Amino acid sequence: MGGGDVAGERRSRQSAWRERANDLLSSPKDPYGWCLVAVTSLCLRRECRRRKEIPAWCLVAGVVLITGCSTGGIGHALARAFAAESCLVVATARSLSSMADLGGDPSSFFLHQLDVLSDESVQTVVSTVLQKFGRIDVVVNNAGVQCVGPLAELPLSQLESTFNTNVFGSLRLIQAVVPHMASRKKGKIVNTGSVTVLGPGPWSGAYTASKAALHALTDTLRLELGPFGIDVINVVPGAVRSNIGNSAIANYSQMPETKLYKQYEEAIRARAYFSQGPKSMPSEEFAKRTVAAVLKKNPPAWFTLGPYSTIMAIMHHLPLCIKDFLLRKAMKC
Ligand SMILES: NC(=O)c1ccc[n+]([C@@H]2O[C@H](COP(=O)([O-])OP(=O)(O)OC[C@H]3O[C@@H](n4cnc5c(N)ncnc54)[C@H](OP(=O)(O)O)[C@@H]3O)[C@@H](O)[C@H]2O)c1
Repeated sequence: MGGGDVAGERRSRQSAWRERANDLLSSPKDPYGWCLVAVTSLCLRRECRRRKEIPAWCLVAGVVLITGCSTGGIGHALARAFAAESCLVVATARSLSSMADLGGDPSSFFLHQLDVLSDESVQTVVSTVLQKFGRIDVVVNNAGVQCVGPLAELPLSQLESTFNTNVFGSLRLIQAVVPHMASRKKGKIVNTGSVTVLGPGPWSGAYTASKAALHALTDTLRLELGPFGIDVINVVPGAVRSNIGNSAIANYSQMPETKLYKQYEEAIRARAYFSQGPKSMPSEEFAKRTVAAVLKKNPPAWFTLGPYSTIMAIMHHLPLCIKDFLLRKAMKC
């Protein structure tokens, strides 16, 4: 047997221990279970100390992989909130420096670069995490980009890149982790939608359409992955404080000037910051309540939170003429 086989066998044995420990922790009535948990964690601790890895007890609460964890955004707050629930968080972002503050706590966070547009980047992260920790319990597709501009003049490349990040980026990571989760008959996939889908208005057509596509994919995935023991959750934020407005405006400022919509310039720019008003929910509060919902034994299929989530849910059921009237007023169109 080669060295790689031995290492592989040891890894799968460790992974089986961890899984067993987790199963037993979720069935506290079993007294033999608790003894086994104690013995298992002692063995794991010893093994991890020997290999100078993260202490095993961190692994029992779950390994959570999150995309788009730059400081100031929802992903970063989610990373901290999952860590506060004793999860080991694989925090990822396009650049490590954008989440450098998480680096000081290696027992809670493992940082890795990840660009959801790249197959190679996604595969590298998933295989590194599986090799190092033996499992991925929760994947949070948080990375996303807002895109503002009138659809009639929006460069198609902008529409494409919005879909590439928000839709195909999410699906890319899902396809990379599903084989692993399906083999364990266990896992949770969290996609980040948006309440804007419930009342699509002017100036953010590309973004809203991409999130609508993600909502649809999420609904299908929930049914298709159910038989493999994988929960799929649509987290639908209302207005949550983050960098989303600044990023959208930075992107918009690089687009060619509009011809037909010059008079709406101010309204278009304001749309980028629509979710960033004084009443927007702090990302920490959003993250704490989201994590509580995701970590439930039976997590909800749809979880919405933040200002506008109730209004948009009502809006969704209004007749189109009323919906249009309200959106024209709000978006100055
Ligand atoms: N804030 C809200 O009110 C709100 C409302 C509804 C939905 N959402 C959704 O919530 C999620 C988080 O957004 P946010 O509000 O926290 O905005 P944010 O602060 O701008 O965070 C977005 C994150 O996505 C990352 N990202 C963008 N493209 C990426 C790529 N190709 N690969 C990997 N990461 C990438 C960004 O990285 P960089 O820092 O490198 O750009 C950033 O870390 C998004 O899906 C967004 O659509 C937010």
